[in-house]
Amino acid sequence: MTRLRKVVFPVAGMGTRFLPATKVVAKEMLPVLDRPLIQYAVDEAVDAGADTLVFVTNRYKHAIEDYFDSAYELEETLERAGKHELLALVQGLLPKHVRCVYVTQQQALGLGHAVLCARAVIGDEPFGIILPDDLIVNDGPSALRQMAERAADGNTGVLAVEEVPRADTAKYGIVDIEAGGDRIRHTVEKPKPEDAPSNLAVVGRYVLPPRIFDLLEQTTPGAGGEIQLTDAIAALLKEVPVLAHRFAGTRFDCGNKAGMVRATLHFAGADPTLRHLVAGLAAG
Ligand code: G1P
Repeated sequence: MTRLRKVVFPVAGMGTRFLPATKVVAKEMLPVLDRPLIQYAVDEAVDAGADTLVFVTNRYKHAIEDYFDSAYELEETLERAGKHELLALVQGLLPKHVRCVYVTQQQALGLGHAVLCARAVIGDEPFGIILPDDLIVNDGPSALRQMAERAADGNTGVLAVEEVPRADTAKYGIVDIEAGGDRIRHTVEKPKPEDAPSNLAVVGRYVLPPRIFDLLEQTTPGAGGEIQLTDAIAALLKEVPVLAHRFAGTRFDCGNKAGMVRATLHFAGADPTLRHLVAGLAAG
């Protein structure tokens, strides 16, 4: 197992699919029920053992920093009103041993570039990446934790993968794995269905060795004119094993409205006070 002390959250995207809400609210702050998307992602990182959360953000995303900061007036008010449960809730968003670091991505040059912006904070150790848009729920160890357990040492990469309809390959990084195994032979970013080597898509979880940073430095713009993490991983897997991990859990693609609605219904269905609403919807 690889100890993942640091996890990167690339959160500098514009969130245009959720305009007008995202004109002022960061996409990662949109709630699934009563918790913002970023909270689910952070909980997963903490479950995987992280104590340093690195947010790659931009000048419009101060709400994320404010969310994880203490809110003196609010806490004082809740304290005086005797609302101890709510106080514990707002004070318990992060365990005490976890710290947040914010780095800015000055220009939107792609996911690979966003990850590269975290280099100085990560240094020379293996690390995780979570794309908060991909919300993964399960009852056991979190997806990132499962992946850390798969990484035999700090030199192995692990990518979370899931089968997607072939028609959707152009929305994802697609992997080609060795026959009968799970070692990745090649990755390609957003291929057309007719060019895709498989329908096995990378979803937003990565465990990577620090070598990826050198490779990202050398990565030129790829799909969509952006510096793609997938392209740097294609170079990495020529040097070290990179495994495809079919995670246990359910993924909700909260980068679009349908996924956000599904995730909300999932959590509402698990809430005793809201369950009847979901059952009512199902009954029509
Ligand atoms: C990014 C990655 C892609 C991956 C996807 C998972 O794409 O570039 O390889 O499959 O996340 O959600 P994006 O969704 O940012 O376009």
